[in-house]
Amino acid sequence: MGRILSIVSQKGGVGKTTTAVNLATAFARRGLKTLLIDADPQGAVRYGVGLRRGHPTVGFDDYLRGERALREVILPTALPWLRVILAGSVSEASDHSEFQRAVGETTVLSDLLAMARERCHVVVVDTPPGLGAVTRRVLASSQHVIVPLQCEPLALQTTPQILRAIQDVITANEELTLEGILLTMFDEGNPAAERVVRYVREHLPQHLVFDAPVPRTSATADAFAAGQPVVLRAPADPASQAYVNLATLLAERFA
Ligand SMILES: Nc1ncnc2c1ncn2[C@@H]1O[C@H](COP(=O)(O)OP(=O)(O)OP(=O)(O)O)[C@@H](O)[C@H]1O
Ligand SMILES: [Mg+2]
Repeated sequence: MGRILSIVSQKGGVGKTTTAVNLATAFARRGLKTLLIDADPQGAVRYGVGLRRGHPTVGFDDYLRGERALREVILPTALPWLRVILAGSVSEASDHSEFQRAVGETTVLSDLLAMARERCHVVVVDTPPGLGAVTRRVLASSQHVIVPLQCEPLALQTTPQILRAIQDVITANEELTLEGILLTMFDEGNPAAERVVRYVREHLPQHLVFDAPVPRTSATADAFAAGQPVVLRAPADPASQAYVNLATLLAERFA
């Protein structure tokens, strides 16, 4: 039976999608059969995962609405062990409320995750910012969760809130483990960023914060703009190495 790993954060723009895409890619490169699911109606996975030009844009939403069969929305990628389910048509719409309602009130997502778990080693799920209906559904079906935390001053204010919210969800799903808080976009040598890292390490239990932050690198931003995971496009980049090492650590925990 495979593992479902969700990437969740109260705050937007903290590196969830970057983390989901690069961890999924790193798992697949280790030979783990991996499925990446974009549960965020914004649908950003589509731009960063390295799909062929002209690939189909159907995805989870089209399956949810009964317009596509499951096999039609599972897309191949450049890597043989990585498949992806995009957000689908909802990402073209300005109103995501029907999608949120349908995910929250039906068991389609939970059923899909249960099925995926039987066929894959790892299922990585990218989620929308916040702990709304979609994220709660994802967490209810997950065994593992990672919370990215951007190394910027506002993190100091939001960390306690994030932890409280995650704690609530974890209490509701006894199968779920918070694997760790992942410090992202760390600028080494920047006093504000270093202060955040120090604060987080002082105020949170040591086992809850991954040792290695993901550095902010231009290769990561460039890779996203070029539509590719940085771990494939620039494997020697320090952010790539941070993601590959994290995938190794998690694969060992999952084994
Ligand atoms: N390590 C990094 N180095 C440089 N840029 C990064 C890094 N990680 C993420 N970014 C950039 O930061 C921005 C936000 O990242 P990302 O889209 O992964 O965040 P998110 O949490 O998924 O956002 P949202 O809440 O909108 O879904 C993107 O432009 C991304 O390219
Ligand atoms: Mg995102």
